[in-house]
Amino acid sequence: MEKKNIDWANLGFGYIETEKRFVSNFKDGSWDDGELTSNSMVTITECAGVLQYAQTCFEGLKAYTTEDGHIVTFRPDLNAERMANSCRRLEMPVFPEERFVDAVVKTIEANEAYVPPYGSGATLYIRPNMFGTNAVIGVKPADEYQFRIFTTPVGPYFKGGVKPLTIRVSDFDRAAPHGTGHIKAGLNYAMSLYAIMDAHRQGFDENMYLDPGTRTKVEETGGANFLFVTKDNKIVTPKSGSILPSITRRSLITVAKDYLGLEVEEREVLFEEVPEFVECGLCGTAAVISPVGKINDHGREICFASGMTEMGPVTKKLYETLTGIQMGRLQAPEGWIKVIK
Ligand code: PLP
Ligand code: COI
Repeated sequence: MEKKNIDWANLGFGYIETEKRFVSNFKDGSWDDGELTSNSMVTITECAGVLQYAQTCFEGLKAYTTEDGHIVTFRPDLNAERMANSCRRLEMPVFPEERFVDAVVKTIEANEAYVPPYGSGATLYIRPNMFGTNAVIGVKPADEYQFRIFTTPVGPYFKGGVKPLTIRVSDFDRAAPHGTGHIKAGLNYAMSLYAIMDAHRQGFDENMYLDPGTRTKVEETGGANFLFVTKDNKIVTPKSGSILPSITRRSLITVAKDYLGLEVEEREVLFEEVPEFVECGLCGTAAVISPVGKINDHGREICFASGMTEMGPVTKKLYETLTGIQMGRLQAPEGWIKVIK
């Protein structure tokens, strides 16, 4: 299969339309068979549930070309499970988990020419999403839904690739206690747009959100979970009911323990403790692990020992091991890699 003529090495994190997407519709209580289509347009009523009351959720995963030339994806079963949880919380019908994985595979296969080559630094980002399509005017769930999976080749999420980021402590909250912070609902991202633009206007790359209840504990950023490293090389990662259960973070916990022999603590992290850590990273599918060099707390700077020029040594080992597993340079734990071809 001939690859598309794309400048893979210089891709940012943007949308490039690819050839095929998977589409399935839910009507009269069941999902149709679904199909791959070339049509990237969605036509829905002006009164659709998604347009009026933001009834939509999504997922994000990637396809990689491995060192030996296979195309693989990473733990799609966990995206299927998380999307099912998002749907349940939003009163949307679950797209069956096995069918989700099968549709991801079919969509990657159909867009093989857009899977960036090994070593290019780019990957194929896969975006499953679901939304309420029929007219809803009273506040209630839609009866009809569309589930789509499209793909787009991407480079690094943060400009500058693996250069350490400067983030700020946000005065805006991302999620309410007992709200929807733990699911991948579009509404969580809509409410973060002002905060992220405000952060950019002030010269910061991202926001660190604290727990909305007490504003004393570290939660996450708009699109990634936190990992910290202590001075004795322990990994510490926040545990909270209102952060997204990152598949990258869960995988890195296994990588840290089983591949690198590091101790890992998943627990509440007080903001007060942050200056004691020596490294900080943001982890997620898009972010992979992006190092944080500095956190600005209303003018007070917390500078990590790892500095502003490169990733800290432990973050780097985590990064290399995880990407090594994803790109087929290292043996993956059972069930992590789904081979497409
Ligand atoms: N937190 C938020 C708010 C996200 O949007 C994401 C991205 O999916 C993550 C964390 C990282 O999750 P994952 O590693 O499953 O991509
Ligand atoms: C992902 O990492 O897949 C996400 O959905 C994060 C998003 C902010 C791009």
